[in-house]
Amino acid sequence: MGDRIMSSNYGDEDVQEGSLRPRKLDEYIGQESVKGNLSIMLEAARKRSEALDHVLLYGPPGLGKTSLSLIIASEMGASIRMTSGPAVEHAGDLASILTALEEGDVLFIDEIHRLSRVVEERLYSAMEDFALDLIIGKGPSARSVRLPLKRFTVVGATTRLGALAAPLRDRFGVIFRLQYYDEPALQTIIHRSAHILGVHIDGGGEEEIARRARGTPRIANRLLRRARDYAEARADGVITREVAQAALTALEVDTRGLDPTDRALLQTIITKFDGGPVGVETLAASMSEEVETIEDVLEPYLLQLGFIARTPRGRIAMRLAYEHLGLPYRPTPGNLGLWDSPPDEGK
Ligand SMILES: Nc1ncnc2c1ncn2[C@@H]1O[C@H](COP(=O)(O)OP(=O)(O)O)[C@@H](O)[C@H]1O
Ligand SMILES: [Mg+2]
Repeated sequence: MGDRIMSSNYGDEDVQEGSLRPRKLDEYIGQESVKGNLSIMLEAARKRSEALDHVLLYGPPGLGKTSLSLIIASEMGASIRMTSGPAVEHAGDLASILTALEEGDVLFIDEIHRLSRVVEERLYSAMEDFALDLIIGKGPSARSVRLPLKRFTVVGATTRLGALAAPLRDRFGVIFRLQYYDEPALQTIIHRSAHILGVHIDGGGEEEIARRARGTPRIANRLLRRARDYAEARADGVITREVAQAALTALEVDTRGLDPTDRALLQTIITKFDGGPVGVETLAASMSEEVETIEDVLEPYLLQLGFIARTPRGRIAMRLAYEHLGLPYRPTPGNLGLWDSPPDEGK
């Protein structure tokens, strides 16, 4: 998965992402409803000179959660401390992070659904009371002290809202769901990135990359770099529509932005499981993929395209998937909806 060109996960090359990250809210393209609501919250908190309420961001990888957390801190004129669920192993780690925070600081917790139970419980009481209860000493002389904390803001990011314990979710003042970007928004992002990186690209090239970027800015930026390589090695250095098409076809990224793994998923449902329904565990086993990869990375975009659907009995392939792969459409009982209503007793 790591070297998948269309992986929306963070990879080595994305270290260069730093320069491409939007710094201010008005450089952050798209996500208009999130930006609108966030700017109201930011302005109100600034007017009251208070810390911003805790914010939870969720959505598939590469849509701009980390970028938005940095923007929130910078718009509040606050410092940001960045960590992640798996990195905070013990309650003590959390205590040392929290006690070091200054008034109004932002604590960004990536993959917040991966915090351990103990740490999670500590965190949500700290988020609510801005205090930490610590046990000092051992045995009969142990006593509990309450350590007050400065008012801070937690910005949490997750790809799976459902995996977050309800009490933790409830401590957030707002939950923003990031959406896949439409093609015009991606084109604007590509245009901006090309400018920053000094890449020569025309409108046709931008359109072609936007169309194949799976609605995901991180992927758009990565495809832009690959198309630049191709343009420099095989053309005259300018990314035109033809150059972008040739570059992305060579990478096996098709016209809808699907890569071989996406197509394998569709093929598996259609040919091995007669179009479905097939449970995600079975699907994962027969593709040698992780369930989490299928659920968090592959499926959201295929669902968005209307290529697959989730039913109570498992995943089914839809007509559009057959058409995309050039296969004859054979509806299954699942996508005819026959299982959603009681069987017809033959009037
Ligand atoms: N709204 C946006 N406008 C411009 N660029 C964006 C936007 N969202 C994401 N990006 C680009 O995509 C990259 C990945 O975004 P990131 O915030 O790391 O995503 P996530 O944390 O959700 O995985 C960023 O470095 C940035 O270059
Ligand atoms: Mg991130």
